Amino acid sequence: MEIGKTYEGRSIYLLRVGNKTGAEKPAIFMDCGMHAREWISPAFCQWFLKEVVGSYNCMPLITTLFNQLDFLVVPVVNVDGYVYSWTKDRFWRKTRSKNSGSSCVGTDPNRNFDAKWCTTGTSTNPCSAVYCGTHAESEKEVKAVADFIRNHSSIIKAYLTIHSYSQLLLYPYSYDLSLPFDHKELDDLARDAVKKLRSLYDTKYIYGPGGSTIYLASGGSDDWAYDLGIKYSFTFELRDTGVYGFLLPESQIKPTCEETMLAVYHITQYVLDNLY
Ligand code: ARG
Ligand code: ZN
Repeated sequence: MEIGKTYEGRSIYLLRVGNKTGAEKPAIFMDCGMHAREWISPAFCQWFLKEVVGSYNCMPLITTLFNQLDFLVVPVVNVDGYVYSWTKDRFWRKTRSKNSGSSCVGTDPNRNFDAKWCTTGTSTNPCSAVYCGTHAESEKEVKAVADFIRNHSSIIKAYLTIHSYSQLLLYPYSYDLSLPFDHKELDDLARDAVKKLRSLYDTKYIYGPGGSTIYLASGGSDDWAYDLGIKYSFTFELRDTGVYGFLLPESQIKPTCEETMLAVYHITQYVLDNLY
């Protein structure tokens, strides 16, 4: 389905995957392509969808998963920025909305959510790569995602947002250095998820609360989703650690997606075993 349109009028799609049982099922929400230049992110969502749809009926684990929950996947949130990164500027990050009084374009969608909006690790300068926008949810793309999640908040049990790069698995908070109520549980889950990820190709991930693990930055989707009541809220920063950075070579797409699947499956299974 279409959850909204971008600033330039493109459709923002959400795919729902799961078995139609008739009953209301818990769901895992995942988005990719919030930041334009992080090309491995949309690639992962696409891989994920292909994998879960293709494995249905032949992999018992997936069949069981599909009977018990739905995946709600937005393969590309920032479609305008993503297209722009393919056609004009490979390193574009933000949306493509015009800013009044400035010739600079775009807002950072991951500084535009309503989570201590525009207080730290962001900028009020429209020319900045981390511009927070004129107000929370000023970006149509952010509003579309936030509206969908709000309207389905009773069924969404986990929020996963896929970025690159740095090889990190982050949980709240990033808007300040306080720890979420579920800190211990999130930390244990993150530890086990990165352990699973590493088991395939020995890719090492660091995990922890965003604020102390990378930097303070308010207005992020993970903090917002957590404060809305979605306990299992994580930001993935996929490969690599900076050798290629955003220009991750094609040869690393498959292994990156394969190893990340293990972490996502682990979190999914955990959520199913610990429904709230
Ligand atoms: N690199 C990501 C960004 O700058 C990290 C997001 C972590 N979460 C957060 N709420 N800042 O958007
Ligand atoms: Zn990002």
